[in-house]
Amino acid sequence: MYKYDYIDQTLVNERVTQFKDQVQRRIDGSLPEEEFRPLRLQNGLYHQRHAYMLRVAIPYGLLSSEQLRTLANISEKYDRGYGHFTTRQNIQFNWIKLEETPAILADLAKVQMHAIQTSGNCIRNITSDAFAGVAADEYVDPRPVCELLRQWSTLHPEFAFLPRKFKFAVCGAKEDRTILLCHDVGISLKKNTNGELIADIYAGGGMGRTPILGSLIKESLPWNVLPSYLTALLRVYNRFGRRDNIYKARIKILVKALGPEEFARQVEGEWASIKDGDDNFQQSEWDRVAKHFTKPAYKTAEQISTEDLVQSALENERAAFARWLERNVKAHQVPGYASVIFSLKPHGSVAPGDATTEQMLAIADLADQYSFSELRVTHEQNLVLADVEQARLLELWHKAKAQNVVLPNIGLLTDIIACPGGDFCSLANAKSLPIAKAIQERFDDLDYLHDLGEISLNISGCINSCGHHHVGNIGVLGVDKDGQEWYQITLGGEQGNHAAIGKVIGPSFGAEQIPDVMADIIDTFVKHRTADEPFIETYRRLGVTPFKEAAYLNRSKESSAAGATA
Ligand code: HEM
Ligand code: SF4
Repeated sequence: MYKYDYIDQTLVNERVTQFKDQVQRRIDGSLPEEEFRPLRLQNGLYHQRHAYMLRVAIPYGLLSSEQLRTLANISEKYDRGYGHFTTRQNIQFNWIKLEETPAILADLAKVQMHAIQTSGNCIRNITSDAFAGVAADEYVDPRPVCELLRQWSTLHPEFAFLPRKFKFAVCGAKEDRTILLCHDVGISLKKNTNGELIADIYAGGGMGRTPILGSLIKESLPWNVLPSYLTALLRVYNRFGRRDNIYKARIKILVKALGPEEFARQVEGEWASIKDGDDNFQQSEWDRVAKHFTKPAYKTAEQISTEDLVQSALENERAAFARWLERNVKAHQVPGYASVIFSLKPHGSVAPGDATTEQMLAIADLADQYSFSELRVTHEQNLVLADVEQARLLELWHKAKAQNVVLPNIGLLTDIIACPGGDFCSLANAKSLPIAKAIQERFDDLDYLHDLGEISLNISGCINSCGHHHVGNIGVLGVDKDGQEWYQITLGGEQGNHAAIGKVIGPSFGAEQIPDVMADIIDTFVKHRTADEPFIETYRRLGVTPFKEAAYLNRSKESSAAGATA
């Protein structure tokens, strides 16, 4: 993975010193809150319901075991013994004391981490495929491009005060695992017939109040001109993005208003004058960065044992282990290896995406022992060991079991994405975590979950959509009506190559109704599905009507009587 050079380290260290001074002045009262606020947000420090929350960047989701250990230690020393991995491949600490933040940032800087640009109207942490560099379906390893873009965008003076926050996703595989089309800019990497690295650029995607899928605005852009092209794109946005209305300030609104063709034409016009300038990447920069993303020392096929893994498990554990292999273990580029997903979604006991200090420390050890000391964070809020020898999967499963991270529910109904909602977030209209918990408790029969197959269920506590409810096959959105918490259901959303925004089925429900409503939706699916048809295909074949009828049967009066239409 990338290692900071002198310049990166100096920049991060200087920021720590600067912030320490700002915090000190806030504490002694010489810096009023309104002046301090933008400074703290530039360092990822939010003020939430109960305490300060610190969001730490995990660039393109890649972590070393040493970094994870530091995060674990921070969670123990400065928080309440856990951290929350987010849908944007960041980690958040929810119980931070203002006076301790400089010390936390100093600890982070020692392991080449920071919280710069995890908030504010700037280019945010760049997200990517959690299986970058190892996925069996990969065309191009996106990590060198991510790192080059990270360096280009960090503290970029021209883009520090955009109309709104700006999010990039980069993917290089056949299957999009980044929700490329829901980002302000999505960069899809490929090679052309001459073997040169090129990018298709999508712009104007996003969730939130106005969910829109991004549009293709530039095809086959040579990789080295990405900075000048993106500069042109951001300039058009910076100039014409709506600064008068926060709800209309994202680039998606501009692209929609102009139309993707006109937006692309304007970017092209801006680009014309800078496309051959000094901004572009040089081959030497590629070489400097790409050398950090070479393949680890994989064993050769002859060195790897080929014994039947399931057979080698004890008889009483074979079924559970086979299920884990099926759900939580993914194909790898290198024969004899696999990638393992640890589920941070144990049924009902903790919030989706939370990991305790003990779990983080143990997983860091497992990464050392089984995966070249590296890990990944997925946008579904799980953790990945990318490079595990297949022959050692059983051993790893045994050890990871003790940490409660081997539930074989990846991609199933209980692998819920959920934002922190009303339990932590001051913007929430409703709680999300108890809803996730109640659904997990209701559907805790693993046999049944496996029979149901792939279904994504995403929950957000407000329309900002941090829990990605728009792209869940089933989405749950917290809404406020007359000071009460209600939940609106969307169906038909999807992430990936066939990304789609779900449709609201009708009036919202009370919290206590949600597990039953889910059960009715699922029963309808089971009744109508053909063989092993996934939920989304049954939904597309049938449309919303049967699901809607089931959800409101005997219920419509209660919810609409309360006026709970959102
Ligand atoms: C707790 C403090 C948080 C605050 C104040 C906050 C604020 C917001 C706001 C205002 C938006 C709406 C942006 C828009 O207009 O589209 C948004 C969207 C979003 N946030 Fe958060 N959020 C918070 C936590 C989180 C967490 C915990 C996650 C991940 C679990 C997250 C990930 C996202 C994502 C992915 C979006 C969708 C943006 C898009 O693609 O357009 N946020 N957030
Ligand atoms: S969706 Fe709303 S409630 Fe949930 S974390 Fe985002 S801003 Fe907070």
